Amino acid sequence: MLWIPGPTEVRPEILAQLARPAIGHRSAQMVELIERLDPHLALAFGLSTDSTAELGVHSVSASGMMEASLRGVGQKILAVKNGAFAGRFATMAESLGKQVEHLEVEWGRGVDPAVLDETLTQKGPFDAVTLVSNETSTGTLTPLAPIAEVLARFPETMFLVDLVSLIAGAPVDFDANGIDFGFAGVQKALALPPGIAVFCASRRYEQAAQKVPCRGWHLDPLKLLAGHKQRKTPATPCTPLYYALAQQLEDISSGLDLAPGQGSSSPAKAWAARFDKHESMRSQTEAWATGHGLSLFPATGFRSPTVSCINAGEIDVGALQADLSRRGYLISNGYGDLKGRTFRIGHMGDHTPAGLAELLSAADDAISSPARS
Ligand SMILES: Cc1ncc(COP(=O)(O)O)c(C=O)c1O
Repeated sequence: MLWIPGPTEVRPEILAQLARPAIGHRSAQMVELIERLDPHLALAFGLSTDSTAELGVHSVSASGMMEASLRGVGQKILAVKNGAFAGRFATMAESLGKQVEHLEVEWGRGVDPAVLDETLTQKGPFDAVTLVSNETSTGTLTPLAPIAEVLARFPETMFLVDLVSLIAGAPVDFDANGIDFGFAGVQKALALPPGIAVFCASRRYEQAAQKVPCRGWHLDPLKLLAGHKQRKTPATPCTPLYYALAQQLEDISSGLDLAPGQGSSSPAKAWAARFDKHESMRSQTEAWATGHGLSLFPATGFRSPTVSCINAGEIDVGALQADLSRRGYLISNGYGDLKGRTFRIGHMGDHTPAGLAELLSAADDAISSPARS
């Protein structure tokens, strides 16, 4: 069972959607399929009721949408770097010929809003700031509201946010947090097989992007937004994953994560129950770690609700992984330089606190009485 930080486990009901007969992507069925998505994506992105933001879906990995987000902004980028994927965002901007200022932040922490403010003031103006909301490499959450407060003073700067391992795991509050372009793959807290990405763009992002020349074709954010609006994807989409996404979003909105007996509920409450579930799995994992004398890699206040990154202490991470794997559970080693020093548990998507308790109990056994190979 996948307890890695994505891709994560996919429910059989969702897998069944992948076996539906193929449909023409210029058919009425495709229009209907795309129309099933938006009301629920609006909840996933936490759009305000008067939002003018536009939603979209593209058949590409999350990195593809990271690149698309950059293709709609000007040349001068401030990249907040507190982990491996934040580093990828910066590298990608450079590969597109952008002029990138790197704002290095200690891994395991979010950027200090005062430092961000100072950098924007002293080194700006910038066309965009890039940020990874939930660094999967270190299990680090950057609270968005304090960043949004700073960026509100720099209206010329677009706020591009990687929501890859955050969306459907915690509130995004797209409008309230002043996000201009947010994107995510679907293989993390949305718990689908990988292969498509969801995104959302503010009106001002769309307006600014119109002035940017040479945005490409397959990753031109304006082409993708227009295609979604017209229910006509620019290129042939991965329709099986669209079916899976529609099913998953509808299931979440109708209360997939509500406790039995919780009764009827609004879609917004159903999404809030999913976010609460992830938060409780975060504290459950943290309590387990501290019970074993282990500390969390991210500082207090920056711990992710979907991925816990635990300092391994004396634990042999490779041996723990191998033992858990023999018991049927896959967890991840630390990322990059953190390999062997940390391990990561992805408690995201359709995983439940009860399932997590089983994994943690297997980890107890693996630590106290290792299974023989
Ligand atoms: C935070 C974050 N951003 C971007 C990516 C890249 O996603 P993909 O592999 O779907 O391109 C990942 C993948 O793990 C991620 O965790």
